[in-house]
Amino acid sequence: MTIKAFGYATHSARSPLVPFGFERREPRPDDVTIEILYCGVCHSDLHQARNNWNNSIYPMVPGHEIIGRVAGVGSGVTRFKEGDRVGVGCMVDSCLACDACEEGLEQYCRCGATYTYNAFDREGAPTYGGYSDRIVVKDRFVVKIPDGLDPAGAAPLLCAGITTWSPLRRWKIGAGGRVGVVGLGGLGHMAIKLARALGAQVTLFTRSPGKSQDARRLGADEIVLSTDAAQMTGVAGRFDLIIDTVPYIHDLNPYVPTLTVDGALVVVGYLGGLEPPLDTVPLIMGRKSVAGSLIGGVAETQELFDFCGAHGIVSDIEVIRIQDINEAYERLLKSDVKYRFVIDMASLKAVRHP
Ligand SMILES: NC(=O)c1ccc[n+]([C@@H]2O[C@H](COP(=O)([O-])OP(=O)(O)OC[C@H]3O[C@@H](n4cnc5c(N)ncnc54)[C@H](OP(=O)(O)O)[C@@H]3O)[C@@H](O)[C@H]2O)c1
Ligand SMILES: [Zn+2]
Ligand SMILES: [Zn+2]
Repeated sequence: MTIKAFGYATHSARSPLVPFGFERREPRPDDVTIEILYCGVCHSDLHQARNNWNNSIYPMVPGHEIIGRVAGVGSGVTRFKEGDRVGVGCMVDSCLACDACEEGLEQYCRCGATYTYNAFDREGAPTYGGYSDRIVVKDRFVVKIPDGLDPAGAAPLLCAGITTWSPLRRWKIGAGGRVGVVGLGGLGHMAIKLARALGAQVTLFTRSPGKSQDARRLGADEIVLSTDAAQMTGVAGRFDLIIDTVPYIHDLNPYVPTLTVDGALVVVGYLGGLEPPLDTVPLIMGRKSVAGSLIGGVAETQELFDFCGAHGIVSDIEVIRIQDINEAYERLLKSDVKYRFVIDMASLKAVRHP
């Protein structure tokens, strides 16, 4: 029997999110059925709800920073039992047979990973995300939440956290590493916390002078106003890794000279062509790279949770009711959030089924 689910969906690029009833698949032997407790609000939810990437499927139930409690497991599931606290991030399936999947890089699955929402699963049914009361997910794509972590604060680790953790690990950031973070939002604030916990010296590049104090509290050693050319020149040749989280088109050229030899500017925010074009001269003159990175694999996500459990790291959040999601999107567009909205899914109980 399929499972009745209830959440919030948007029906077009311009319509608000509204209550929505739908069905989840009948749980299979390797499925975990999860009662959703909290779901983070990522800028990618907004991009997709508004069809910024021209690939939106409606109706769309966004949400890929899901924390919940196991409500049931299939006969083949051994890693989880009823009552466990678990997380689900941006993916719910992949081919599990290609070289990328075998290396734990399910996000780069050669056959294409199945995203948690705004996608079709391997049987062709639409996937619906975490702005809802329950979800059914293959156990391989479910992570364990360490006991000590606050479940609401842990939700953003499933996307904002892993998306910044993965490049920090890939570029081997450790004690004494010099890391720049561009943009202090959901991803940016996690990048600062994680880089700091790995022992790096952290610099925030921001267009918002008012965020300096918060950035220092979060663990930044230095703040550079990206609109001030003199401040940018002041950090020339400095960084091993810069993680750029800015969601919209912007000039990458001012950041490249701030990399050290072999340094990398890793873009995780903006998807699309560049304007102005990228100047290759400072890249070639210092064997620097401009790279991209997409979320992280499942094992890497578990590694992040274990690290955060050991270091007591969670996101700085503002808990909202599902009824306030449209206002939250408006505030996200204005960068008016410190530093992640997380929906308390208990608020759904007060919403009438349409
Ligand atoms: N690669 C991946 O796997 C992956 C995963 C998750 C999210 N993303 C993408 O990463 C981006 C950031 O997501 P997020 O949830 O961290 O967003 P967010 O909370 O809205 O933060 C974005 C930050 O970027 C800065 N910014 C600079 N120019 C901006 C502009 N024109 N409009 C808005 N913000 C601007 C702001 O920081 P300052 O005020 O400090 O400048 C803002 O706080 C999004 O595009 C999202 O789709 C990618
Ligand atoms: Zn996300
Ligand atoms: Zn694969």
